[in-house]
Amino acid sequence: MPELPGAGMSLPGATLIAAEHVCVRFGADEVLHDISLKVDPGEIVTILGPNGSGKSTLLRALLGIIPVAEGRLMRQAGLRIGYVPQKLTIDRTMPITVRRFLSLPTRVSDLAADEVLARVGMAGQGAEQMTTLSGGQLQRILLARALLGRPQLLMLDEPTSGLDQPGEAAFYRLIEEVRHQTGAAVLMISHDLHVVMAASDRVICLNGHICCEGTPRVVSTAPEYRALFGLGTQGALALYRHEHDHAHEDGHPHHHHHEHDHA
Ligand SMILES: Nc1ncnc2c1ncn2[C@@H]1O[C@H](COP(=O)(O)OP(=O)(O)OP(=O)(O)O)[C@@H](O)[C@H]1O
Ligand SMILES: [Mg+2]
Repeated sequence: MPELPGAGMSLPGATLIAAEHVCVRFGADEVLHDISLKVDPGEIVTILGPNGSGKSTLLRALLGIIPVAEGRLMRQAGLRIGYVPQKLTIDRTMPITVRRFLSLPTRVSDLAADEVLARVGMAGQGAEQMTTLSGGQLQRILLARALLGRPQLLMLDEPTSGLDQPGEAAFYRLIEEVRHQTGAAVLMISHDLHVVMAASDRVICLNGHICCEGTPRVVSTAPEYRALFGLGTQGALALYRHEHDHAHEDGHPHHHHHEHDHA
């Protein structure tokens, strides 16, 4: 693992992990510029941003997988992190049961496996083949594996990609439940503000730098957020704020202001 400036420096107080003025470069390319953030115990923080905005890079820098060019990273001494990367390296065609998968790379007891499967709503499904799982079930198993290390901080890189909206909403409810049961903080990445709204305490809007941050409601009205995601026909916000305040029953012709799609 590369030597990081400030990596492993322990934090005073309760804060789990923090970045101060962090820059990350790939060659001459500065992918992350002047990033400062922190995550406190029990918080659910969501990073939002368009493709290529540096979201995955930020998580990887926080984990110490890639070096930071400037700034410093700090984490609580002995912090246990459960990480689910955006791209999986498991071969989906390889026959392997859920139970076996949970024991990779670290063997776990049957009791621990049963417990964690129950926690993610997959009780009794340890004998299933990984290849037969639906997208939502697979995400639950990945979360289960991350939970086996009893993390104080979960880092999830787009955990709901590939899920439909009900699947996504159910997964975020599960994350909240896990936070409630285990007290773990969650730092996750998503593309959709409207679905993370309910499940996030704080949102960080990223585009190489931090454009804006705050509660989901504050971020949703921030001009920087609007500039990044737009409020036009496809805007996530337009979907979220979608309200039918006009009547359809009266039969009178009326003007519709449909600024959104029924996605
Ligand atoms: N190992 C690397 N070497 C060189 N460039 C990289 C590397 N990893 C990421 N990048 C570049 O850094 C930028 C940010 O990539 P990153 O994967 O962090 O974006 P992202 O916000 O997670 O995007 P997505 O929404 O598509 O997952 C991209 O331009 C990418 O090409
Ligand atoms: Mg990414």
